[in-house]
Amino acid sequence: MEPFVFFGGKGGVGKTTVSCAYALRSARDGNRTLVVSTDPAHSVTDVFDQPFDDSPQSVEGIDGLDAMQIDPEDEVTRHLDEIRQDLSEQVSASMVNEINRQLEMAHGTPGAYESALFDRFVDVMRNAEAYDRVVFDTSPTGSTLRLLGLPDLLEGWIDRLMHKRRTSIDLFEKAAVGSNEPRRVMEGDPVLARLQERKEFFEFAGAALHDDAAFFLVMNPDELSLNETRRAIDGLREQDLAVRGLVANKLTPSPDSDENGRGARYLRERVETETARLETIRSEFEPPLVAEIGWRSSEVKGDLLDDVAAELDIETAVEPPTHV
Ligand SMILES: Nc1ncnc2c1ncn2[C@@H]1O[C@H](COP(=O)(O)OP(=O)(O)OP(=O)(O)O)[C@@H](O)[C@H]1O
Ligand SMILES: [Mg+2]
Repeated sequence: MEPFVFFGGKGGVGKTTVSCAYALRSARDGNRTLVVSTDPAHSVTDVFDQPFDDSPQSVEGIDGLDAMQIDPEDEVTRHLDEIRQDLSEQVSASMVNEINRQLEMAHGTPGAYESALFDRFVDVMRNAEAYDRVVFDTSPTGSTLRLLGLPDLLEGWIDRLMHKRRTSIDLFEKAAVGSNEPRRVMEGDPVLARLQERKEFFEFAGAALHDDAAFFLVMNPDELSLNETRRAIDGLREQDLAVRGLVANKLTPSPDSDENGRGARYLRERVETETARLETIRSEFEPPLVAEIGWRSSEVKGDLLDDVAAELDIETAVEPPTHV
């Protein structure tokens, strides 16, 4: 299995639970493992009953397992601050106010969270030397994955900008202005340097996601979740990323055959419906079902997490990364 493992899926299906269970198993199997969560509502903090923040800390009582929790709100703010910083070095003071106004608006735009989180994920992947495996609770969405096409776009853009820049410097030199100065302007150009840096960032992201990452989707046995999963598989495929497996979570338990009360009949009917849905998944979905996890009567934490971990048929041995 690749060093980076992502668990995606729609809200509430069990991404955090399954990510923690898999990370726990990976650590128990001897891999130095980090689990990264992004959800402030129910997160690694709740599952392990221990506070985490955005720098990795070891999970008490479990050797080789670290966890961190990224707050999307903080990430957006940090992301926009960086842009503000970059831009204010380039523009006149009078533009700074306008830029600040635009950035305030950008804070609330759809995609701001996703794109800030994506940046942070890639950062974690770039700085993962201390770990054999990093488990991400939440996989990148279709819109963030489209960013992977950016290096090609930036390449052309940077080339054209370089060309323009060169031409104008040429003109500058022909006008016989100091001959050393212009070259320095081109080489040290902060805008081009920033674009170049972004290009390399997305190149790394593309390479790491294609060669060193595996994607799993968590789903529940209901119509909505099936449709969402289908879309997510297609979205990843558009970027040439294959979903390795599907995790069916929160399956209704079967009552004993001698039970015939109202509750038992209800459960039996549900099990029947869900069995049919699992059959649909097996026959119509390309990625295999790698786990069928029963619905527990309480939150999955503590010993229950070990139980759930045992139900995952997902390998933990790590293939060495090719890009890190
Ligand atoms: N198999 C299960 N049995 C019982 N409860 C479960 C099971 N799996 C998950 N849960 C519970 O369901 C809730 C949602 O699970 P979880 O937080 O893992 O989902 P999520 O996909 O990460 O949600 P979000 O989209 O909000 O991040 C949690 O309270 C969790 O303890
Ligand atoms: Mg979650």
